[in-house]
Amino acid sequence: MKRVLVVYYSQSGDVTRAVESFTKFLQTAEIELTWECIKPKDNYPFPWSLYKFFDVFPECVNGEPPEIYPPKFGNDEKFDLIILAYQVWFLAPSLPIQGFLKSKYAKVLENTKVITLVVCRNMWHSASETMKKMIAEVGGIHIDNVVLTHQGPPLATFITTPRLLLTGKKNRFLGVLPAAGVRDEDIYALSRFGKQIANNLAALSDSSRQPMLQGLGAVEVNQRYVIPEFIGRLVYRPWAKIARFFGKQGSWSRIPIVCIFAVQLIFAIPIVLIVSTVVQLLFAPLIHKKIASYVELLKSPSGVD
Ligand SMILES: Cc1cc2nc3c(=O)[nH]c(=O)nc-3n(C[C@H](O)[C@H](O)[C@H](O)COP(=O)(O)O)c2cc1C
Repeated sequence: MKRVLVVYYSQSGDVTRAVESFTKFLQTAEIELTWECIKPKDNYPFPWSLYKFFDVFPECVNGEPPEIYPPKFGNDEKFDLIILAYQVWFLAPSLPIQGFLKSKYAKVLENTKVITLVVCRNMWHSASETMKKMIAEVGGIHIDNVVLTHQGPPLATFITTPRLLLTGKKNRFLGVLPAAGVRDEDIYALSRFGKQIANNLAALSDSSRQPMLQGLGAVEVNQRYVIPEFIGRLVYRPWAKIARFFGKQGSWSRIPIVCIFAVQLIFAIPIVLIVSTVVQLLFAPLIHKKIASYVELLKSPSGVD
């Protein structure tokens, strides 16, 4: 009997549906599945109000998560595998998931194999690298990373994702733009990963760091997002520090700075996209190697076929 712990947090239900599909073939007599939905002590109501949405930005970027309520699994419980399903908030793992990883309960990851499943609009690179560091800090053995992004062209998701987050509406917009969130077919297809694990249960007992999900298309890296994410992180950090200087999440004193950040972000996004394209065109020979090695890092640990 193998023990598998599923840790997740979800607002719209995308992460929940993704991890349910992922684990479909793990619901067998040889596996004991334990589900743990993270419950943060701070409230993040969905759909979001516009201000609350931007007000979580500094804590996301600075890594100042909320406390979480005690999980149902015991302090000294051991598992053969942990599946950690999370979403990206402002290029970082969402605050509830950061809250779990920075809590004493993250001890459960120590010396245990961990597979991450990230669901987001399409900018997951920085969050994924942050996640790898956080897992390493608590002694987890990160063996695979699976990435699932929202449906539709990236430009359309600049409208469909905020509409989903601020209104809860997922349907096609204006009859032209695709539905928001993750495509159903992509969710169903995640079951291939659980199947692979179920067919290789013995591998959970060895002490290697060998990935289990190689060759299944766990991660697709779009190189075009490497520079925008890099610039985004660079720009986010000072803003997050300044906003935090003016007060904590929810405090009146930081309303003006959070509003200024929100307004500049609307203008900054097209500028960043243009600058990134220019940098990529002008400096391609100089940065090609660096980008290629970063892409390899992003593909790890599962790699790409
Ligand atoms: C506060 C906030 C910030 C977000 N920032 C990002 C981001 O930086 N990159 C991205 O690709 N998606 C981002 N998203 C989109 C979510 O990752 C995406 O909607 C995900 O599917 C949410 O899953 P859930 O509804 O199951 O929680 C953000 C969402 C929220 C609420």
